[in-house]
Amino acid sequence: MYKNILYEIEGAIATLTINRPDKRNAVNYDTVEEIDQALTQVEKNPELRVLILTGAGDKAFVAGADIRELDKRDTILGRTETRRRQEVYTRIEQLEIPSIAAINGWALGTGLELAMACTIRLASTKAGLGQPEVKLGITPGAGGTQRLPRLIGMGRAMEMILTGDPVRAEQALAMGLVNRVLEPDKLMPEVKKLAETLATRPKLAIQYAKEAVLRSAEGSIAEGLAHESYLHALSCGTMDKKEGVASFLEKREAKFTGR
Ligand code: COA
Repeated sequence: MYKNILYEIEGAIATLTINRPDKRNAVNYDTVEEIDQALTQVEKNPELRVLILTGAGDKAFVAGADIRELDKRDTILGRTETRRRQEVYTRIEQLEIPSIAAINGWALGTGLELAMACTIRLASTKAGLGQPEVKLGITPGAGGTQRLPRLIGMGRAMEMILTGDPVRAEQALAMGLVNRVLEPDKLMPEVKKLAETLATRPKLAIQYAKEAVLRSAEGSIAEGLAHESYLHALSCGTMDKKEGVASFLEKREAKFTGR
């Protein structure tokens, strides 16, 4: 069904792999549309609890936008293409379920932007992360100037974006751009372990908590606190809240139902 991605499901975990390893998984227009279609599949499947995003092969997560297409991008396409990517990446960010970027190699340009739209990022020691757009005479356009400073702070984001130079995995870890760095063969097992943990947590509490945390990056603290309070109130009305509290008081394992 897909040409440029793989979409696989294992239990409650879906894995979307950008699959153009001979082009270092560079994302072209068709790939963006395929990611969007896969997101519709994710949203329509109520059994899913976590989405993993990764890149095929051992060299790249995603080495940026397809530079062959960039060659033809003029002002008009520059606007439509970036709006489309922003829309699709924001869809990942706003999914009800959390997503994990398994950064197995280069995450450059749109690749880093894709990883930053995910809820959590884990990287292999082979990863390199950067926004090299200025080296091509352009600026980031799929969220880089907005999500990078929110994740690592203004000064460090400025340095990465204005030099265009990538950081290695360990530097990304020190900046908080990734949560953990693992040997390449340990990356997917660790990502899956984290995904399994998230999948065991009560579904609605995860959904509301994720939404509240995302809101912290926007607007005022007063609005964020009000939103947090309403989401907390909603979580108090769930069956899983009854079960979670009862299981603690009765000293037993909780059996969550996602309701
Ligand atoms: N767009 C299109 N093709 C790309 C690509 C991209 N962003 N990144 C890599 N490729 C292609 C190369 O053109 C090459 O194709 P070919 O075999 O048909 O010539 C193939 O992938 C392998 O690339 P190569 O540079 O030989 O791989 P490498 O492992 O030595 O280096 C990178 C990997 C990621 C460091 C290097 O490919 C690179 O710098 N890519 C561009 C990164 C970039 O500027 N991205 C931002 C775009 S906004």
